[in-house]
Amino acid sequence: MVALTSMVDYSVEEGVAVLTLDNPPVNALSQGVRQGLKDGVVKALADDSAQAVLIVCEGRTFIAGADISEFSSGPMEPNFHEVLSTMDNSPKPIVAAIHGTALGGGLETALCCNYRVAVASAKFGLPEVNLGLLPGAGGTQRLPRVIGVEKTLAMVTSGAPIGAAEALELGLIDQMVGDDLRAAGLALAIEKGAEAGPHPRVRDNDEKLQGAKDNPEIFAATRKMIARKTRGFLAPEYNIRCIEAAVNQPFDEGLQTEGKLFAELVTGAQSQAQQYFFFSERQASKIPGIDKDVAELPITKVGVIGGGLMGGGISMNFANVGIPVTIVETNQAALDRGLGTIRKNYENTARKGRLTEQAVEQRCSLIQGTLDMADLADCDLIIEAVFENMAVKKDIFMRLDGIAKAGAILASNTSALDLNEIASVTNRPESVIGLHFFSPANVMKLLEVVRGDKTSDAVIKTGMALAKRIRKVAVLVGVCPGFVGNRILFMRQIEASNLALAGAPIEQIDKVLFDFGFPMGAFQMGDLAGLDLGWDKGNSNPTDVKDRLCDLGRYGQKTGAGYYDYDENRMPTPAAVTAELFAEVAATQGIKQKQMSEEEILDRCLLPMINEGAKILDEGIAMRASDIDVTYVYGYGWPVYRGGPMHYANTIGLDKVLAKIRHYHELTGDDFWAPSPLLVSLAEQGKRFK
Ligand code: 3HC
Repeated sequence: MVALTSMVDYSVEEGVAVLTLDNPPVNALSQGVRQGLKDGVVKALADDSAQAVLIVCEGRTFIAGADISEFSSGPMEPNFHEVLSTMDNSPKPIVAAIHGTALGGGLETALCCNYRVAVASAKFGLPEVNLGLLPGAGGTQRLPRVIGVEKTLAMVTSGAPIGAAEALELGLIDQMVGDDLRAAGLALAIEKGAEAGPHPRVRDNDEKLQGAKDNPEIFAATRKMIARKTRGFLAPEYNIRCIEAAVNQPFDEGLQTEGKLFAELVTGAQSQAQQYFFFSERQASKIPGIDKDVAELPITKVGVIGGGLMGGGISMNFANVGIPVTIVETNQAALDRGLGTIRKNYENTARKGRLTEQAVEQRCSLIQGTLDMADLADCDLIIEAVFENMAVKKDIFMRLDGIAKAGAILASNTSALDLNEIASVTNRPESVIGLHFFSPANVMKLLEVVRGDKTSDAVIKTGMALAKRIRKVAVLVGVCPGFVGNRILFMRQIEASNLALAGAPIEQIDKVLFDFGFPMGAFQMGDLAGLDLGWDKGNSNPTDVKDRLCDLGRYGQKTGAGYYDYDENRMPTPAAVTAELFAEVAATQGIKQKQMSEEEILDRCLLPMINEGAKILDEGIAMRASDIDVTYVYGYGWPVYRGGPMHYANTIGLDKVLAKIRHYHELTGDDFWAPSPLLVSLAEQGKRFK
């Protein structure tokens, strides 16, 4: 065996040159892999003892794509196209033996092999769109030639992979093989090496393009189908254009189109933000300061207190991964309602074809109900999910302390209350943690894991690992009112109200936020959450428009009216009463209403979020700026192509952000606009948030 590079070995076995790639953790196409692949093929071509080439990977996966961390460091030889072209032009047949994930550049490499075999668990995909990119090494030109245009369009616009069985059916792999992948790959390479060439090359076969040539409407249909989901993103459209090029241009011209569009994306702000976000998401799970020897606690049974919307959604997360849950409610009717809602949710998913009837039954059977908290005595984790009231939560934790077994984790789903105060009523504050799920809890990806002053490392580690197990992205935060997510949101909501008082119609404010990329604006969000949240009936604040709307029975979407009026399909229309109330309150406060520019609205909504984020960082409530960004993208719909509030601030430039915040501070004289000391210090040093 010869080491061609530190990442690729060359050996000849039974007349086959075997290139073994080993670049943990995911065999990304780093410089050493590209160099080894190119040198390996060149060597095999000159090697009379080799009649074929086999590419196989060590570790947990086949090549999972280009090395994303290399994108920012500029091009490094050999160019990936050069490697693939060497493979494509090899007269000796090349076989790819695939396990794990052949993604992005990994699948593009496999598509430049003449034959592909894979184990049954292998997955194949072109997920570049999730990085704001398109497959830039021929994937958009080759894949439709193998699996057809329609399927390729679905794969490149969603980024979703397919399994080996489907790949076999579509002709993407030649054989699905047993566990001894290497042996199976070798056998095929020996067989093909003995056959006279030429061996099939993907680029030469246009047959599968004909369907789309005859039916070009397929592109318009795809655009229409994905429009809502991909609003604001550039990459899905660019991917579609490349597939159009595959159909309408000769192969080499199509490659050039692909290259040109890739180059535009890879240097653009959207892809930069999405690449940053890829690493930020993975960074969030890393907790410095916790010894790697600290053991996670086993979680085999979970208790949830409260079977309402939140408790039910939380329970589903566990049942979805096979962990049994016991829900506690205070009366049978509430319990029946809660369990009924869970069943209905699963049945709705089944109706859409995303769950089998059998799975519905299996998951429902994992969720039991009880009226007796004592039934939680054998749970490893108990999550309190009742309404936001400190006295009620303290009472529950006091009782739990007497019921839960030693070592059980006691978690609160509070979204804003003081976790330390809750923990203080127990004799085991080290076992108390916040697990703040976002509504709907069975859908939203974010989990804020709240570390109390006394929460033990083992409990934190378990909370973070558990999130992964139930397929959430966890961000570890400290205790403060609203933690990271809601604390920042409060700032935006306050300023959105100030803008409405100052004369901007709420529909204009919401449109500016929607156009920025949020799924909805501040007032639509308020209506969705319910305006009566935190409203003290009979004790309304006359200068708070939200309270005044509640006085009128306008609680938001659920009552068909809030800031907006809603029709039976929950479509909003502006309500005159809301504008009148804002005008009335403005008049009583001596605020002269005026027209507002979109730029001012956007600035005044986003700058307070950035400023609060800086304060949160300064106080150590969040460990990293990127954790705040992960919170905002997964919990609050911040468009990922803008990276998150802190990344966005970095892209504008902190000096500019600070200048604008100071401008509003001077204008209003309001402490609300006092710039965070961290922001001031970073901006003055010409630095960025980290
Ligand atoms: N480049 C560099 N690092 C990568 C990487 C890549 N393509 N893919 C994964 N990694 C790193 C991760 O950052 C992580 O590092 P860390 O341990 O230091 O945090 C480590 O590998 C493990 O990754 P995950 O935690 O994500 O491991 P999982 O087992 O959960 O998932 C995976 C594995 C499915 C391969 C997932 O990592 C993934 O989806 N990777 C990205 C795949 C991708 O987007 N490929 C296309 C790249 S762009 C491209 O190929 C362009 C081409 O067309 C020219």
